[in-house]
Amino acid sequence: MFTLAHLSDVHIGPLPRAESWRDYLGKRALGKISWHRRRRFLHDPVIAMAMISDIKAQSPDHVALTGDLINIALRQEFVAAAQWLKAFGPADWITLVPGNHDAYRPFPWAEGAGLWSDYMTGDIKLASARDPVDPDALFPFVRQRRNIALIGLSSAVPQSLFRAGGRVGQDQLDRLGPILQDLRQRGFYRVILIHHPPVPGLTPRRRALDDDKDLKRIIEEHGADLVLYGHNHRHGRSALKTPFGTAHLMGAPSATSPGFATYDAAAWYLYKIRRQDGAWTTSVTVRRWDGKQGSFVADPAYTL
Ligand SMILES: [Fe+2]
Ligand SMILES: [Fe+2]
Repeated sequence: MFTLAHLSDVHIGPLPRAESWRDYLGKRALGKISWHRRRRFLHDPVIAMAMISDIKAQSPDHVALTGDLINIALRQEFVAAAQWLKAFGPADWITLVPGNHDAYRPFPWAEGAGLWSDYMTGDIKLASARDPVDPDALFPFVRQRRNIALIGLSSAVPQSLFRAGGRVGQDQLDRLGPILQDLRQRGFYRVILIHHPPVPGLTPRRRALDDDKDLKRIIEEHGADLVLYGHNHRHGRSALKTPFGTAHLMGAPSATSPGFATYDAAAWYLYKIRRQDGAWTTSVTVRRWDGKQGSFVADPAYTL
């Protein structure tokens, strides 16, 4: 049995002080106002700390983290998130993909999300997967853990004002099909990690992937076992029929959410993946934040 934890959208706060007024031009100005007026009440870092303890207590074999570590892509936020990741666990135990808030404004890779690149690099040689040496072309990457393959996609591209969408892009889409095919032929259980909901209809257009129809078509054609995403700050569960079985699309809420307004309270998912009699079975336990108890509580497990 292989156990995989999934969490998302940590939105580490509070916002650090900017280094220059230039940091607050354009979209970041709106982001800063939004943080102080509203978003800081929607994200409590204490909950993420409790979640990390809860995950460690369950000692999963691996952890998937689907982006939005930070808020408005200030230099100090990238540094704080790198420290947060390191305190959480080693890069070979946690696999990360970036979210739209990690690319809130264009930012030099090496001083930005590049600080987290140890958590976003592949370790299996595949013809279509990225080699971990080129920081401009990190995605898609593939990591192997026993007979589980984790495929990391980036949907994080800077957005105009009032948009929170994303894009996988033609290069990643062209590589994804052969990767899924290759891994299937080798008998791997295939887990795709992506920040945005992977298919149309799971989020409003202004928050959606530009190319979600293309991504859906590739998953439908080649199959995948599990697609883990975040972004909506709500639970999500849907499925796609493929010639190779059902692809389960599973969304986790924000890891720092107390559960105000229309957002679900923080939760993380514990997947138990088994190969039995030539077929995969996946059971799921959702562990939800209970604000009254100040701890995470398990829902009854179910099988996908
Ligand atoms: Fe988010
Ligand atoms: Fe997001």
